[in-house]
Amino acid sequence: MSRTFVLLIIGYLALAGGAVGIMFINGMFAAKSNVDNAERVAHGLAIYSEHCAACHGADLKGDPDWETQRADRTYPPPPQDHTGHTWQHSDAELFDYIRDGGERFERRAFKTAMGGYGDVLNSADIWAVIAYVKSRWPKEFVAKQARANFLGGLHNH
Ligand code: HEC
Repeated sequence: MSRTFVLLIIGYLALAGGAVGIMFINGMFAAKSNVDNAERVAHGLAIYSEHCAACHGADLKGDPDWETQRADRTYPPPPQDHTGHTWQHSDAELFDYIRDGGERFERRAFKTAMGGYGDVLNSADIWAVIAYVKSRWPKEFVAKQARANFLGGLHNH
């Protein structure tokens, strides 16, 4: 066997292994926020109603002026349905935002108006609320977000 051929085989195996690994990790995320898991979605609805609906709306519509910054540099709560930008974030990003709040995203021009839920909700609660929110999106948005998951899902979980 020529050396080039052996190197090609090794390269191919490395790529295939990497792809399978990413698919596996991605599958773990999809399972945690599975919109088809009725029990989890029901648990998420209870969490959402108790902790999120006051700001983001029972209908997930948020505040109609959510894109207009207030004088104090905060923004009104954005929708959690597909008309907002929630679906543009990976599950890992959503998890972090809900656990830690918006503080780490604060900049001079932006002040957060959402605190973290890490002390109130455990991981299972947070995954359930993500599953519930996603279950309210049209299927095509769930699929689009799954692609964001694919790219962003690898960081820190
Ligand atoms: C006190 C009002 C308030 C409550 C309660 C609240 N949020 Fe928020 N949330 C906001 C605001 C305002 C923003 C916009 C960004 C910021 O201020 O940090 C936001 C941003 C977000 C974001 C990031 C933007 C996006 O849509 O991707 C997510 C995700 C989110 N909230 C989910 C939740 C969930 C889930 C709960 C309940 C566990 C919750 N929020 C409770 C006010 C709130």
